[in-house]
Amino acid sequence: MDLHYGEAGTGLPLVLLHGFPLDHTLWFPQLESLAGVARVIAPDLRGFGRSPEASATTAMEVHAQDVKQLLDRIGITRAVVGGLSMGGYVALAFAEMYPEMLQGLILCNTRAVADGEAARRRREITALKALDGGVPELSRNMVGQLISIHSAKAQPGLDRLVEAMLIRQSASAWAASSRGMAIRPDRTPLLAKLQVPALVITGSRDTLILPAESEAMAAKLPHAELVVIPDVGHLSNLEAPSAFNAAVRKFLHCVVRTGVQ
Ligand code: MLT
Repeated sequence: MDLHYGEAGTGLPLVLLHGFPLDHTLWFPQLESLAGVARVIAPDLRGFGRSPEASATTAMEVHAQDVKQLLDRIGITRAVVGGLSMGGYVALAFAEMYPEMLQGLILCNTRAVADGEAARRRREITALKALDGGVPELSRNMVGQLISIHSAKAQPGLDRLVEAMLIRQSASAWAASSRGMAIRPDRTPLLAKLQVPALVITGSRDTLILPAESEAMAAKLPHAELVVIPDVGHLSNLEAPSAFNAAVRKFLHCVVRTGVQ
């Protein structure tokens, strides 16, 4: 599967994996502003954006394999891998499957634990609704959960930009990754084994994945820093690009300085 991707900058490879059900344009503020410090690579995960169609279920491991294949294709052997929400589930799968390729890990608004029964049922309802022509309605309902009220007020038009990103994703991608997230394993035991530098970022007003979950995850990572951005919701990189980019820039300097190979 040849993933479509956006790229900017040179130097330390930084791979950024978008959340559900979004695409690589989520990372425009990072592609623009981190290009001075890294080679930023932001793929459209399978089925999303301009990447080829998804199958019935896309497990997080399949997304991780696609990312590995992309890195092989463009000649990258090691990278800092970051992911937001579902992108974080994929980043953790990647960390487990290809530890030798991991130079650092950035986990944004995400969690290591698996879904419970109720969440799995909700995912299946989302998948069925998406396949039944429900993407516009699902998108309208989801926007308010993704960005905080504060961000919506502070940045007029942000809600419409996010809604447009949701609506343009195919029903099959919504369904396949929804079902894929439902079957992801608990990767909490992996956290203690990750010896690379890690950065955990969240927003104080993330209601989809509570800041407490990020705190718990950061506490289990051996070399992690936690950054909680005030007044920000689930899409921290888009809602507060300056604070987000500053945290990532500082982290990348630390990765380079510690030179973990
Ligand atoms: C995401 O933003 O990727 C999703 O909210 C993740 C999830 O539904 O668990």
